Amino acid sequence: MLQGKITQYTEEIDSFTTTKADELERFRIKFLGTKGIIKDIFEDFKSVSPEEKKVLGKVLNQFKQLAEQKYQSLKDQENADDTENAVSIDLTLPGEGFEIGARHPLALVRKEIVEIFSRLGFVVEEGPEIEDDWHNFSALNFPEEHPARDMQDTFFIKKGGELGDIALRTHTSSVQVRMMESGKPPFRAIMPGRVYRNEAISARAHCFFHQVEGLYVDENVSFADLKQTLFYFVQELYGEGTKVRFRPSYFPFTEPSAEMDISCTICKGAGCQMCKYSGYVEILGCGMVDPNVLENCGIDSKKYSGFAFGMGIERIANLKFEIKDLRLFSENDTRFLKQYKSSLI
Ligand code: DAH
Repeated sequence: MLQGKITQYTEEIDSFTTTKADELERFRIKFLGTKGIIKDIFEDFKSVSPEEKKVLGKVLNQFKQLAEQKYQSLKDQENADDTENAVSIDLTLPGEGFEIGARHPLALVRKEIVEIFSRLGFVVEEGPEIEDDWHNFSALNFPEEHPARDMQDTFFIKKGGELGDIALRTHTSSVQVRMMESGKPPFRAIMPGRVYRNEAISARAHCFFHQVEGLYVDENVSFADLKQTLFYFVQELYGEGTKVRFRPSYFPFTEPSAEMDISCTICKGAGCQMCKYSGYVEILGCGMVDPNVLENCGIDSKKYSGFAFGMGIERIANLKFEIKDLRLFSENDTRFLKQYKSSLI
């Protein structure tokens, strides 16, 4: 029986010729390893009759030598191959270049906005993109019949075949509610994120885009604080001398509410296509947090007041990089994205 095994393995060893490192290592383990075939065979040898031992002992030793020599010679050959290859590599040749990626323009702008506000002590908060009616609308003082709840604007999500009160958030203002509900004032946070609207996709509208929300709640916060904070932000983002102007507006969750315009970043106020020859462009909505919103979130509106603001990141990026077609942001065309390589920091 032992003789049969040896004959079979001898054939296997004879036909083994590869110098590939991993296969060679497998060969070593199989035959010469501590749990290898040779060890095994020597173990079997112990129980063989004394007469047989005389004959088999010699055969066994030859077999062992065969395996060891085979391994050693292939190993030497492998090392020789390596050296040969190493010599053929010209270390003085220039390396193969590889392209580094670029940050997405929206990521660049978001990063810059977050950095500016963090210098004023704002922390970053995030919330879920799938929201309920309470956080997206009700807590923010949207009346029941407000058109923004209309299915034209909002992607509602079906639950058990029925439209429930779950939707893709339409703005990052929902994160304000989550933050105020789960903590205690003062709050000073900046909340970037993706939002969704049921809009036909065109150069000027998309079914998803990005916003940054800001919230500041404390005792004695006034509209003057809001103006100064946003004024500082704009000087940092677009450069000193950028003018701001506030126009009265309406949002259910702020009272009073305003929209903020800045002097056109393209023509510096002289008038151009971007600002429709008005010299100013709108960049965000803002206002004093409506006391109803504070109360909805369990905050004493007699003791605390606050301001909030919200802006579209695409809009800010558009004014910074003059990207006219919103669709470019989500098409992943590397020819477009590569242009922002120099802005990589
Ligand atoms: N949520 C508003 C929107 O999506 C933007 C906004 C306006 C946010 C005024 C605010 C705010 O926090 O005070 O159009």
